[in-house]
Amino acid sequence: MKLKVLVGTMTSTADYVAQAIQMDCADLVSDIEVTLMDGLDISVFDAEKAEDAIYLICSATYGSGDVPDNARALYDSMDSQPRFLGHVRYGVIALGDRTYLQTYCFGGKKFDERLQGLGAQRIGEVWCHDASSGTLPEIEGTAWCRQWLVAALQDADTAA
Ligand SMILES: Cc1cc2nc3c(=O)[nH]c(=O)nc-3n(C[C@H](O)[C@H](O)[C@H](O)COP(=O)(O)O)c2cc1C
Repeated sequence: MKLKVLVGTMTSTADYVAQAIQMDCADLVSDIEVTLMDGLDISVFDAEKAEDAIYLICSATYGSGDVPDNARALYDSMDSQPRFLGHVRYGVIALGDRTYLQTYCFGGKKFDERLQGLGAQRIGEVWCHDASSGTLPEIEGTAWCRQWLVAALQDADTAA
């Protein structure tokens, strides 16, 4: 089983979280691939790529609750080139800041909405990190991911 982490970021926090997961969770899954969302489109979820894989969206939030610039093409393609993603299993790490009350963690949440709309199956709840909390997203994110992965791998076994 492969974990594919797709990273939406402006100032690299989401990338640091993904890299920490890649190092910390290597004992749980045979292969962890971290990819910045730059240049990606919905074909990243094609059936042959999703085979034997679980996806983890790891996205920050910008503007008025938007996905980061490097995630825009992927996010938009899920609207402009929609296709059924029932074969995709995924989780979401949403990075944000509670001082943006109205749009807290909307970047990751928007990906979740769009994936659900295309029939993809989310495993577990969306995990949110608040930059104003003073906690380190790399530490908390890897702890969350370890638990999430156990559930995700069980789910994959059941589905097989
Ligand atoms: C200009 C700007 C706008 C932001 N807008 C939001 C927002 O609308 N909602 C939110 O929850 N967080 C918002 N944030 C917080 C970031 O999403 C958060 O700091 C995140 O950890 C940054 O991740 P990155 O370093 O991977 O880009 C904003 C941050 C900046 C600098």
